[in-house]
Amino acid sequence: MTNNNRANFGSKIGVILASAGSAVGLGNIWRFPYETGNHGGAAFILIYLACVLVLGIPIMVSEFLIGRRSQANTAGAYQKLAPRTHWRWVGRMGVLAGFLILGYYSVVAGWTLEFIIEAASGSFVGKTAADYISSFTTFSTNPWRPLVWLVLFLLSTHFIIARGVEKGIEKSAKIMMPMLFILLLILAVCSLSLPGAGTGVEFLLKPEWEKVNASVFLGAMGQAFFSLSLGMGCLCTYASYFKPDTNLTKTAFSVSLIDTFVAILAGLIIFPAAFSVGIQPDAGPSLIFITLPNVFQQAFSGVPLLAYVSSVLFYVLLAVAALTSTISLHEVVTAYLHEEFQLSRKRAASLVTGGCIFLGILCSLSLGVGKEYTLFGLTLFDLFDFVTAKIMLPLGGLFIALFTGWYLDKKIVREEVSNKGTLKMPFYKLLIFILKFIAPIAIALIFIKELGFLKL
Ligand code: PHE
Repeated sequence: MTNNNRANFGSKIGVILASAGSAVGLGNIWRFPYETGNHGGAAFILIYLACVLVLGIPIMVSEFLIGRRSQANTAGAYQKLAPRTHWRWVGRMGVLAGFLILGYYSVVAGWTLEFIIEAASGSFVGKTAADYISSFTTFSTNPWRPLVWLVLFLLSTHFIIARGVEKGIEKSAKIMMPMLFILLLILAVCSLSLPGAGTGVEFLLKPEWEKVNASVFLGAMGQAFFSLSLGMGCLCTYASYFKPDTNLTKTAFSVSLIDTFVAILAGLIIFPAAFSVGIQPDAGPSLIFITLPNVFQQAFSGVPLLAYVSSVLFYVLLAVAALTSTISLHEVVTAYLHEEFQLSRKRAASLVTGGCIFLGILCSLSLGVGKEYTLFGLTLFDLFDFVTAKIMLPLGGLFIALFTGWYLDKKIVREEVSNKGTLKMPFYKLLIFILKFIAPIAIALIFIKELGFLKL
């Protein structure tokens, strides 16, 4: 559906901060360090950077041009650019992925609020490593407490979404993103000044190529898609609010640069701190919720105030990063309901929030009282994570590349990338080549590997 007075982001910096807000999230601060830790450090990072540059940026440009050209939500976008074709299912799958990701992502996002309170009330002080594990398990399996935080987190997301694109999404990104950068820098400085921090830095900078195998390469590509919010129409929806003079290629470069910068800064916080107290950095979800409180207490044991401030700041940082991502996930579904079913924006947002609270409650309970109810051997929480991140995103990315590379009229692609001929396009041929061949083949490989068809 076209809408002549469609909402717009008001400024260029707003465009970049909102898109970067979507990209920067739990994926950067939790998943990136964990994957790096598991895959041999610096070599993984170099391959990851190559993936962002070669695959991430072209697919992001592709999502941007689909969104801005169509001026519609992600499902409507394909209907407009490819009427009466099956391409509409790519958009619909994106909306569904957004809804499901928001369901379980909000559970973890809610945990960050609990940890802000725990850090602020000083309850990390004087605990042993075993205490951190048991208090995290007691909390995350408690039937009530995580639900309260989940609902609170979704209501905060709802409140911002209901205020609209410019006053809600853009304004909140303009406040939260600079705050996030400042928090990251403070924490990185603290972490780097710890005794023994050098080992952590070395781990990030000195590639151990002998650890690299095909699975490291594919893992880095998967991380790039998740972290850049690609494959489900998030950035496509945001691009529908871009103005005609937004430079799509430049924006894609900026967003990717910011996302990568944050991931590396997160690495510079977590690795030096972890190595400094002799903790291995490959503990997965527990790295942030079990290991890190311990790291802060031990690392700054001589300066209790620093231990207190750094742990509070860290969880505030995580919550802020997660919030700018949940906003973007919520917007994908809200814009879809608002435009395709002619619901008011507020009503659409309420339906999404209500639905996600329901999904989130189920996901949260599936970690505790509902642990026995599994499907394919996975709890609901793990199932949502698996189906979205490992199936829907790679599949979406694959189709987006094919759509722009093969289906879409190149006149449209050129017009959007060059802003109707007003911008030079030094990378145009390369962009099309990647979208046609390299990206589909590479994503197909990740997809096959993640589903375990291929033992590499
Ligand atoms: N990119 C977000 C993160 O790093 C997660 C996300 C994925 C958000 C897909 C939107 C869409 O946490």
